Amino acid sequence: MSFRPFQFLKRMLPSGLYWRSLMIIVLPMVMLQAFVTYVFMERHWQMVTEALSRSAVADIAMLLSEYEQDPGEAAANRIAAQASEFLEMSVAFLPDEKLPETNTGYEGLLDRSLADEIRLRIAKPFWIDGERYDDYVDIRIAYDGGVMRALPLRSHVYAANSHIFIVWMVAASIVLVIVALLFLRNQIRPIERLAEAAEDFGMGRDVENFKPQGASEVRRAAIAFMQMRSRIRAQIEQRTAMLAGVSHDLRTPLTRFKLQLAMLKDGPEIEELRNDVREMERMLDDYLDFVRGDPSEISQMTDLGELLKEIQFDSQRKGHTVTLELHGALELPLRRNAFKRCLTNIIDNAGKYAGEVWVTAIRDEGDIDIIVDDNGAGIPDEQLEEVFRPFYRLDEARNLDEGGTGLGLAIARDIARGHGGDIQLARSPMGGLRAVIHVPV
Ligand SMILES: Nc1ncnc2c1ncn2[C@@H]1O[C@H](COP(=O)(O)OP(=O)(O)O)[C@@H](O)[C@H]1O
Ligand SMILES: [Mg+2]
Repeated sequence: MSFRPFQFLKRMLPSGLYWRSLMIIVLPMVMLQAFVTYVFMERHWQMVTEALSRSAVADIAMLLSEYEQDPGEAAANRIAAQASEFLEMSVAFLPDEKLPETNTGYEGLLDRSLADEIRLRIAKPFWIDGERYDDYVDIRIAYDGGVMRALPLRSHVYAANSHIFIVWMVAASIVLVIVALLFLRNQIRPIERLAEAAEDFGMGRDVENFKPQGASEVRRAAIAFMQMRSRIRAQIEQRTAMLAGVSHDLRTPLTRFKLQLAMLKDGPEIEELRNDVREMERMLDDYLDFVRGDPSEISQMTDLGELLKEIQFDSQRKGHTVTLELHGALELPLRRNAFKRCLTNIIDNAGKYAGEVWVTAIRDEGDIDIIVDDNGAGIPDEQLEEVFRPFYRLDEARNLDEGGTGLGLAIARDIARGHGGDIQLARSPMGGLRAVIHVPV
């Protein structure tokens, strides 16, 4: 596999909208800050410091040259007085003194620019200490026969409080990020709510008082979702009503049929006809049962374990052997009656077409699996999907004729899907059929 930088980047990026938008805001800001800080430090700060050093060194150069024209104690005192009065700088001329031996190399911005200026303007041996005093910088310059010592104010040679600018910038951007955080949260909440509502609807759950909120695009999506939801509901209701109507209306001619058959003389053909009519009646009854299943049933918190025990009890009363096993927390919102019918259809099938039934319910991360195993004949692999078709029955089942119509699995799957889940059939380790009913929690 080749290395794909964009795929890699995609995986590294946060997937949630919140973190993504935060990144979109914070990243450019940090970049801007880094850039501005760099430019500021490199250019502005340096330029200001250089300008200040230049003028301080010019002052010192002037004082020194004045002294050198007329060396002597009187001149030294006069110059020191002038420097302290007009330049706020203490100056002393120390004859017979030498420069200190230590030399600090002049690394920092201040030392460096001072040293450069002294080399340029005075061109005499010198020594600088910018560290020793908090408020002053110690500058010493050797002249013929002595050392001049000058202590200019630090703030006169160095753009000292420039770091305040950076502190302000960082503080301002922290405030900005916090404001963005709060606003973003409010912008994203309506999207989260819409996603939750859509998920709930997909799982057949009630979406309580959902209202379109937030930015206009989100609101539009929410309105579209609500319209889609009511269209789907109307469609389901209409389909159900139509099926119920058809099934119901068919019963009238069928009853007439039955009456007419009853009046005919007995004979083998008549008996066959009666059987057919009876089967049609049963199909219609099943159908009506199915569509009568309340479509407006509201989903409510249900203990699936309890529901399964109920079904086990009912099933055992019908003479089936059902073993039940429950694992984990099995509470979830369900349309109870509908879901009971779904499970009953599957478990009854197993009881009907096999001798023994094992039911296991397992809570997994975000869903629950109900596994129904039996030790019967099972279903051939190529028909595992076919049997979900309405009225589809295997030949063995027809021969056995336990009074089924082939609707059970179709109904069960319809209900499972209505809860956002599904049903899968497979071969069971117990020898027969395995049905797995899966529902999201
Ligand atoms: N546990 C099972 N073992 C073997 N065959 C099964 C099992 N469950 C269902 N079937 C087959 O699938 C067909 C469809 O099942 P279903 O829809 O419940 O209809 P019905 O039970 O009314 O015949 C059944 O007729 C039967 O042939
Ligand atoms: Mg059945």
